[in-house]
Amino acid sequence: MTDDSKLKATGQTERGAERLLFLDTTLRDGEQSPGCTMHHEEKLRMAHQLAALGVDILEAGFPIASAGDFESVRAIAREVRGPRITGLARAKREDIETAARAVEAAASNRIHTFLSSSDIHLEHQMRISRQQALDQAGEAVRLSRSFVEDVEFSPMDATRTDPEFLLQMVMVAIEAGATTINIPDTVGYSLPEEYAAIFRMLKQRVPDSERITFSTHCHDDLGMAVANSLAGVQAGARQVECTINGIGERAGNAALEEIAAALMVRRDRFPLTSGIVMKQLYPTSQLLSEIVTFSCSPNKAVVGANAFAHESGIHQHGVLANPLTYEIMTPESVGVPASNIVLGKHSGRRALEHRLKDLGITLTRSDLDVLYRRFTELADRKKLIYEQDLLELLQTQQIALTES
Ligand code: KIV
Ligand code: ZN
Repeated sequence: MTDDSKLKATGQTERGAERLLFLDTTLRDGEQSPGCTMHHEEKLRMAHQLAALGVDILEAGFPIASAGDFESVRAIAREVRGPRITGLARAKREDIETAARAVEAAASNRIHTFLSSSDIHLEHQMRISRQQALDQAGEAVRLSRSFVEDVEFSPMDATRTDPEFLLQMVMVAIEAGATTINIPDTVGYSLPEEYAAIFRMLKQRVPDSERITFSTHCHDDLGMAVANSLAGVQAGARQVECTINGIGERAGNAALEEIAAALMVRRDRFPLTSGIVMKQLYPTSQLLSEIVTFSCSPNKAVVGANAFAHESGIHQHGVLANPLTYEIMTPESVGVPASNIVLGKHSGRRALEHRLKDLGITLTRSDLDVLYRRFTELADRKKLIYEQDLLELLQTQQIALTES
């Protein structure tokens, strides 16, 4: 580890400004969702793009899960430079040894080990006592530390865990050598205020808690993964775990692009730095959509096809006059090619004129009035009006065109 990366691991930059670390788990938690299985080459392509995006830590997979997963994590560790490479491991010897082998070739690496902490998991799934869980967590972290300097520990289902027991397990992991403590909202159950309270409690009650990087890991079962992550950050978390397009188990994980955009737009509430290259958000989202079997919904925040599309006449008028009237960030700032004025039945004259201008066409006032009337009639029948429709309307109305 270089001096700088030691500083980074505690959430500090050289200049002393606090940095929020991004751990991307698209290739691990994201890949665990239906339709998101990726082949070896696809994972490598995605990993290179995540490096270009500037993520700090790249969770490249779950090496014990399959020979294919192991090979992909190993190849990413060998080839991809920039992010620290981590592999997931249950709190078991075989998992940890396999993860250690998978990440050993990375320029900087981490082992992320986890064990359930909630009673419901311990009783019904693990069938072990709380004391056994504490012993197993400590042993897993110690074993991980025998391979790498940087160990992250996750008490799984932390948000449904008795807070006193959660604190106990976290302290055992820290004493055994973990420097990052992740608080997974495994089943997406938490509300922002509750989630924030866990971080406040840990920061207050863990001795020398400033040495530890606390991390968010939120699932979206109640649609609150991003809100919970941001609440965690406001309560002192300095690492966020997230995925591109929010893919992940069930309803998904917190979407990286939404967290990054919230930090950028609401810098007033998040005076933090990050390594994310904002203009790479859209290309990264596009690449993932190309690789997995579905793209994100058109109304998806930040990277959806409609995220910067304006159809209503009032909004179009405002955006054409000054984009800030209805856009809180520019499309270009997150790598989206250009603002979209979409023509439909809610569009006004100005939007029509603007689109014609894009096509190199300028009309006289009266011709524009005629065309606009025809356009609204057509828009009542058709959901979206394309350039071809406009050209056909112009032709049928035999409007004399003036090249602009
Ligand atoms: O959601 C979860 O609990 C996880 C852990 C393995 C970190 O993904
Ligand atoms: Zn998860």
